[in-house]
Amino acid sequence: MNIQAKSEIPSCPDAPSFQEIMRSTGGRVNDVLTRRSNPPQSREDIPFHQYISQDYFDLEMEKMWRKVWQYVCRDDQVAEPGDYLVYDIGRRSVVVVRGDDGKLKAYHNSCLHRGTKLKPSGTSGWSEKLQCPYHGWTWNLDGTLNEVPCSWDFPHLDYEANRLPEVQVDVWNSLVFINMDKEAPPLLEYLGVLPEHFENWPWDDWYLFMHLEKELFCNWKTAQEAFMEAYHTPLVHPELTQVVGDWNMQHDVFDDHVTRDLCALAVPSPAAKKSISEQERIDRVLLGGRSTDGKTVQLVDGQTARDAMAKQVRAGLETQYGMDTEGYSDAELIDSIKYNLFPNIFIYTGLAMRSIHRIKPIGNDPNRCTFEVLMMRPVPKGQPRPDPAQPVRIPEEMSYKDVPELAAFPLSAITFDQDTGNLRAQHEGMMASEKGAETLSVYQECRIRAFHDTLEKYVNK
Ligand code: FES
Ligand SMILES: [Fe+2]
Repeated sequence: MNIQAKSEIPSCPDAPSFQEIMRSTGGRVNDVLTRRSNPPQSREDIPFHQYISQDYFDLEMEKMWRKVWQYVCRDDQVAEPGDYLVYDIGRRSVVVVRGDDGKLKAYHNSCLHRGTKLKPSGTSGWSEKLQCPYHGWTWNLDGTLNEVPCSWDFPHLDYEANRLPEVQVDVWNSLVFINMDKEAPPLLEYLGVLPEHFENWPWDDWYLFMHLEKELFCNWKTAQEAFMEAYHTPLVHPELTQVVGDWNMQHDVFDDHVTRDLCALAVPSPAAKKSISEQERIDRVLLGGRSTDGKTVQLVDGQTARDAMAKQVRAGLETQYGMDTEGYSDAELIDSIKYNLFPNIFIYTGLAMRSIHRIKPIGNDPNRCTFEVLMMRPVPKGQPRPDPAQPVRIPEEMSYKDVPELAAFPLSAITFDQDTGNLRAQHEGMMASEKGAETLSVYQECRIRAFHDTLEKYVNK
């Protein structure tokens, strides 16, 4: 197998590394952001049948999705006894519910009478008990069978044996995960380096303020791989060229389930052909909705866009949310700090843009998926926790620019639209391919490689 030695890992020439940019700002540095990890990897092509064939998709469903921990929601979305939320993956469906004892439970969403889903897919709400909508078999929140209408007609029914079959559920950092495999290792083990890395990034005092869900015409892996590299950024997202360090961003592969990228913002791309002033740069950054009060920022003599941005974000978090940002470095306020947890979420954990992106296949179709953006904000100090946002569902042909919720984030709307069009073209091109495989770069696409290495481990088990 063609595997590179560690010393052969290339880096973008004539451009500062993320580490150099981070340190140039001065002040505190978060130790977690200084780490790098690039184990040797193969350089073999990856065949397209892994993206377009139903057979491979079915293997993923059987051998991977049923064995892995999957992000469902925040724990405040199922805060009170009786609160439930339905999580669907492929043809499987799971109801996560808060029990009367305050503990979370998760059940396969299928009635033990004749199979009807207990709660409709994609829904959430409150119910005192779990009652099947067909004939009314009813379970308590702890999964015990509570009532069977016309019980006289079921003299053969063993109530104890008809508890709802459970799914593993656990919570980390206020994020709820399920695993359908009863033998799966515990969530904390699965999370690898994440708990240690996130010691300075608690998510408890944050809430979901926006939830967008868009349908895409492409394989679920194709969609998420667009967020595992910034190699495409200068060509596909030219608006970002003066504000994102794309080709020189840092990529880390920590373990089977966790990879990371660190992307400096408010700096030019190595691909930028002309240089602009720092004032122009901060103006372009703020177009992306980072100005918390909608005002422009005037740089003082010698001030960089990064410095101004850090001050702006700090001031915004302090005045709007009463948040103490003293313990955070500038990079945590400015830059994109993105962890990818196998198989399908990205956790952006910087303070300015904390969010989760999630990609899931739709039903059993290798050609369609949903791309969800779950944006978080701090709960304002001393105020009640706002209700979590409900999902806004966006058809593929609808532009993100027409989504009212994104009006304050024009740069995000533009880049999401650019990615959407690109993904359909890529998926169709895979199906039209004579070569039948992709050739990945060594460094910038190492996280796509790591993802496939892990996927193959599950699929070949
Ligand atoms: S199918 Fe659920 S009660 Fe009959
Ligand atoms: Fe993109």
